Amino acid sequence: MTRTRADWEALDARTTPEGRHFIDGGFRPAMSGRTFTRVRPMDGREGASLARGDDRDIDLAVQAARTAFASGIWRRKDPGEKKKVMLTWADLIRKNGEELALLETLDVGKPVLASLNVDVRLCADGIQFYAEMIDKLYDEIAPTGPMSRALVRKVPLGVIGAITPWNYPMIIDAWKIGPAIAAGNSVVLKPAEQSSLSALRLAELAVEAGLPAGVFNVVTGFGEETGKPLACHMDVDMIAFTGSTEVGKLIMTYAAQSNVKRVALELGGKSPLVVFADADLDLAASAAAWGCFYNSGETCHAATRLIVERSVEADLIDRIREVTRREITLAHPFDPSAQIGALIEEAHMDKVLAMIAAGEKEGASRVFGAERALSDTGGYYVSPGVLRGVTNDMAIAREEIFGPVLCSLSFETEEEALAIANDTIYGLAGAVFTRDMNRVHRFSEELHAGTVWINTYDMASFSTPFGGFKQSGFGRDRSVHAIDKYCDFKTIWQQFS
Ligand code: NAI
Ligand code: MG
Repeated sequence: MTRTRADWEALDARTTPEGRHFIDGGFRPAMSGRTFTRVRPMDGREGASLARGDDRDIDLAVQAARTAFASGIWRRKDPGEKKKVMLTWADLIRKNGEELALLETLDVGKPVLASLNVDVRLCADGIQFYAEMIDKLYDEIAPTGPMSRALVRKVPLGVIGAITPWNYPMIIDAWKIGPAIAAGNSVVLKPAEQSSLSALRLAELAVEAGLPAGVFNVVTGFGEETGKPLACHMDVDMIAFTGSTEVGKLIMTYAAQSNVKRVALELGGKSPLVVFADADLDLAASAAAWGCFYNSGETCHAATRLIVERSVEADLIDRIREVTRREITLAHPFDPSAQIGALIEEAHMDKVLAMIAAGEKEGASRVFGAERALSDTGGYYVSPGVLRGVTNDMAIAREEIFGPVLCSLSFETEEEALAIANDTIYGLAGAVFTRDMNRVHRFSEELHAGTVWINTYDMASFSTPFGGFKQSGFGRDRSVHAIDKYCDFKTIWQQFS
């Protein structure tokens, strides 16, 4: 049964989200007693009150995480038992799906049905994927000769700090805490200040599922005040970060200036979607519209640069406009027809609108959309739209917009298309649409991106690694390989006589 807007409003009215830190198995206020208030992007109203963490709260959480790790209460548990706990956790996430979806939507303004059917589902699937790996990981014996036996053990690192963004909070949290906890580590998660609610509930559900206190802690607060002390902490072994390239660079300096903790970074993108004249243009139009506009363009791998062969550019943009009009309904996030909702906050909406204006000033022309919408709601909405006549030197082609704005650039030759596609500081993802299999081969080899899609966009599975090259960062989320980031090899050499 699909709930109506009134149903979600009623659920909202009777839900009081928990906004205190989750440390050592329970909720507690900030040591300073300070709080901050989230403004709901869907209607501009005051939302949850949250603990405003600082270095003292981080210290407390890191201590709890370290104590749990040192005790061995989790890492030394029987693998089958650990698996059961994490599978129960995944089930509890599904059982509490509507509440989690509501919390996510209150925080970030995406349609509540997307929160439920995509974010909650993929969060639970992520925890399950890593739960299922726990009793299938084997260590190695190195070929050192008959009189010695060298075990190559993969061991957890210890205390992992996770710093996550607001665009897919629950999904990205699962990408980090799933493999980190499955590998036997303890975690302190600092969610984005815009999106703490789902993380707090996930932590509560973890303990309900049987995860020992201290293994998973959540400290809420701002980047400088809460994220920085976590990344600078002398007793944190690794930081797993998703967010802006700017802060990713800071995380590396914090690691260098503190204890040489390891770092994994999933940063932004400016992903190209290249369309040749021989492509199935309807397929390409649908992929471009959904690839750029889904989640209101607040997606690190959004297809934000459409690089299209000049002879079909006008035709393709017409089709994109039609797909957008027909399928990508912008509406209040509680409205079941909404496919996209609000942007994260007023300042971000203003930034997106300013980038559109700057693009027009630099010579791009707005074909449709890309303007403020639904302002009577009090929320922060921008309609999906296309800018044409963009060249790769314009700021809108080089910098992340993180809004529902597709920039169309055109080309004449394959060589030119590839050069434009790769001419970016980022390397997260990209796509090519063509029927020419030789060209498919050339592009998939030469496009410098962590993921290359052929005649599709945004297809994903837990079985495929996700992450970038160049300034999109390093280290991969998802897949069996993600576990490696949270472990390291230990050699145990035994000599016989
Ligand atoms: P951000 O990079 O500042 O925030 C991401 C996380 O880092 C948040 O949890 C934040 O509290 C934390 N953080 C911020 N400053 C920190 C510091 N000095 N030390 C430790 N942690 C810190 O991203 P922001 O400001 O929310 O968004 C700015 C732009 O970044 C967006 O418009 C978008 O272009 C990009 N971005 C990319 C994301 C991705 O998925 N790769 C996600 C979010 C934003
Ligand atoms: Mg920032």
